[in-house]
Amino acid sequence: MAYRVQAAALVAAFLFPAMVESLVRHYKFSVVLKNTTRLCATKPIVTVNGKFPGPTLLAREDDNVIVRVVNHVQYNVTIHWHGVRQLRTGWADGPAYITQCPIQPGQSYIYNFTITGQRGTLLWHAHISWLRTTVHGAIVILPKLGVPYPFPKPDKEKTIVLGEITGEWWKADTEAVVNQAMQTGLAPNISDSHTINGHPGPFPNCSSQGEPRIVDFDTSFDLLLPSTGYTLHVETGKTYLLRIINAAVNEELFFKIAGHNVTIVEVDATYTKPFKTDIVFVAPGQTTNALLTADQSTGKYLIAISPFMDTVVAVDNMTATGTLRYKTTEAFSPTVLTTIPPQNATPVTNAFIDSLRSLNSIQFPTKVPLKIDHSLFFTVGLGINPCATCVNGSRAVGDINNVTFVMPTTALLQAHYYNISGIFTDDFPGNPPIPFNYTGNPPSNLKTMNGTKVYRLAFNSTVQVVVQGTAFLAPESHPVHLHGFNFFAIGKGVGNFDPVNDPEKFNLVDPVERNTIGVPTGGWTAIRFKADNPGVWFLHCHLEVHTTWGLKMAFLVDNGKGPNESILPPPNDLPIC
Ligand SMILES: *[C@@H]1O[C@H](CO)[C@@H](O)[C@H](O)[C@H]1NC(C)=O
Ligand SMILES: *[C@@H]1O[C@H](CO)[C@@H](O)[C@H](O)[C@H]1NC(C)=O
Ligand SMILES: *[C@@H]1O[C@H](CO)[C@@H](O)[C@H](O)[C@H]1NC(C)=O
Ligand SMILES: *[C@@H]1O[C@H](CO)[C@@H](O)[C@H](O)[C@H]1NC(C)=O
Ligand SMILES: *[C@@H]1O[C@H](CO)[C@@H](O)[C@H](O)[C@H]1NC(C)=O
Ligand SMILES: *[C@@H]1O[C@H](CO)[C@@H](O)[C@H](O)[C@H]1NC(C)=O
Ligand SMILES: *[C@@H]1O[C@H](CO)[C@@H](O)[C@H](O)[C@H]1NC(C)=O
Ligand SMILES: *[C@@H]1O[C@H](CO)[C@@H](O)[C@H](O)[C@H]1NC(C)=O
Ligand SMILES: *[C@@H]1O[C@H](CO)[C@@H](O)[C@H](O)[C@H]1NC(C)=O
Ligand SMILES: *[C@@H]1O[C@H](CO)[C@@H](O)[C@H](O)[C@H]1NC(C)=O
Ligand SMILES: *[C@@H]1O[C@H](CO)[C@@H](O)[C@H](O)[C@H]1NC(C)=O
Ligand SMILES: *[C@@H]1O[C@H](CO)[C@@H](O)[C@H](O)[C@H]1NC(C)=O
Repeated sequence: MAYRVQAAALVAAFLFPAMVESLVRHYKFSVVLKNTTRLCATKPIVTVNGKFPGPTLLAREDDNVIVRVVNHVQYNVTIHWHGVRQLRTGWADGPAYITQCPIQPGQSYIYNFTITGQRGTLLWHAHISWLRTTVHGAIVILPKLGVPYPFPKPDKEKTIVLGEITGEWWKADTEAVVNQAMQTGLAPNISDSHTINGHPGPFPNCSSQGEPRIVDFDTSFDLLLPSTGYTLHVETGKTYLLRIINAAVNEELFFKIAGHNVTIVEVDATYTKPFKTDIVFVAPGQTTNALLTADQSTGKYLIAISPFMDTVVAVDNMTATGTLRYKTTEAFSPTVLTTIPPQNATPVTNAFIDSLRSLNSIQFPTKVPLKIDHSLFFTVGLGINPCATCVNGSRAVGDINNVTFVMPTTALLQAHYYNISGIFTDDFPGNPPIPFNYTGNPPSNLKTMNGTKVYRLAFNSTVQVVVQGTAFLAPESHPVHLHGFNFFAIGKGVGNFDPVNDPEKFNLVDPVERNTIGVPTGGWTAIRFKADNPGVWFLHCHLEVHTTWGLKMAFLVDNGKGPNESILPPPNDLPIC
């Protein structure tokens, strides 16, 4: 019977290729240096297939994706498929020393995963040191065949990847920037420019050469005009699905198009209730799908991205620009401009975040866990530890519940799977070891403890985490990313979480579902998820500077009992340390 079903499917696939339910999609990602010109300087940067941003990975829900990554550069490399659930395939998740050892120079590794229960936009990026600055790209997951979008079908789709580069990073390279920061114990140098699909927009005249006139670019992006950066070409009356991705390293960003509102329909590859807005707020690691209708007079309209930072921390405050251009626009017509919000526009971010609700339709129901097995409280923030080799004898560190995560030298998943002892302990604290006034005056002792600790969960257990920002050094917004799961963002607030009154305000009906969530500056965010994916799953701040400093931990989810409740065996080519 099984054979006949398969044979029938094969015949159908042969006669009507469009009817194939799911495919195996093969990609080859060659990690190579590529001489590239930006900000008036040319240098080799680490890329996938010579492209910046890298190639778009296109798949359909239920497809099996096979990506062969070949490392041709002098750095260790891994790639993370950010937001892909990786059900039972933790070996393909990608964070270095968490689920795999690095792909060393000259080596290759096949990432093998199936996209299950997800459709929309995600991103892939390097997950080792700061290589993701230039090693990143879009993941576009189409819905299953015959399943329409739960919103009017757009005429066209456009991918817009936001990033961050600097002259120094360009001239030195980001690895030198992060190494210097670790040696001095100080914050790393900030970027000099944000980018839209790899381009900062008009830049003051270069003394030597500027950007090349003809840009070798992925065909899924629009052609670039040399003087204006990214151009979004539109035709009057048509509707466009913008797949907006924040691939920046350390910056939360505003995205705005002059004279046009957009309708948000999806975030982090989960559908939302549609809402109209004139501005998009997107944190590093987050994605947002927005419908744009070209309903204004023909002409050129500015596209602007600018940073959000509502505390004293230094950011790259440069606005990157592109152009939305109607098809019949006269060559020399002026560009309609727009204003960007102030850098500290917290109310603008709150209005955007509070408008996000999951779709919660019959077809896409919102299944928030109602009974909680593990109720956790994580403080996230910074501290200062002694450092003999640092300039002032100390360095900034990040921590969760006062534990600064120390990277192991063997991947945690391997240590777990093969029962190798001495790599990690499973005593990660579910609550702060010493309760204090988290958003009040910081204690005088800003030290943290080192540890490679995981929090252990039984398969299928339900988890609530209240993530509380602290005021150590500077209170700051932290976009926290969880690997291996989507979670529901059930509540948020300013100040200290109130365990008595705040839970009454939780949204357990239609909270937004995502994989990366901002913890407000000097405030808290509550999330819930079901631990239905066995493996070791990283949780960290997606500001790379904070990950580097140790603001990270991992959940270990044990196997269940059923046949499909255990992690699959590791692939033969899994890199070793
Ligand atoms: C980059 O350009 C320099 C100078 O022309 C050249 O020596 C080098 O081989 C190029 N590197 C790559 C990766 O193409
Ligand atoms: C991908 O993983 C599946 C499930 O383990 C396996 O059957 C398949 O052979 C793998 N494909 C490749 C190319 O390794
Ligand atoms: C960081 O910035 C400082 C001051 O501008 C500069 O001296 C230093 O070379 C920069 N570091 C790197 C690695 O580019
Ligand atoms: C750019 O070059 C033009 C023409 O040489 C000059 O008029 C202009 O002032 C320059 N702009 C900057 C920012 O240097
Ligand atoms: C965008 O929305 C705002 C607020 O709802 C409204 O005032 C404005 O007129 C809209 N703009 C366009 C171009 O539709
Ligand atoms: C941007 O930051 C630089 C350096 O911190 C500062 O000198 C400049 O005034 C800032 N510009 C704006 C528009 O805030
Ligand atoms: C070292 O400490 C002094 C005094 O607190 C401060 O002024 C200086 O900026 C610090 N330098 C570094 C590199 O941390
Ligand atoms: C903590 O770990 C770091 C390496 O991540 C090390 O440099 C430092 O000495 C450790 N501190 C203590 C107190 O063990
Ligand atoms: C915590 O600190 C804040 C800010 O200083 C203060 O307003 C609040 O009263 C403090 N809470 C407690 C319980 O001490
Ligand atoms: C964090 O741990 C360090 C080292 O054990 C300790 O000195 C400090 O008091 C702890 N702080 C908090 C807030 O738990
Ligand atoms: C986990 O949950 C699924 C779906 O609710 C259920 O089918 C399965 O039996 C559960 N497994 C365990 C070990 O609890
Ligand atoms: C690359 O990874 C291997 C295995 O973990 C490690 O031994 C080596 O030091 C790493 N190389 C660099 C340049 O970090």
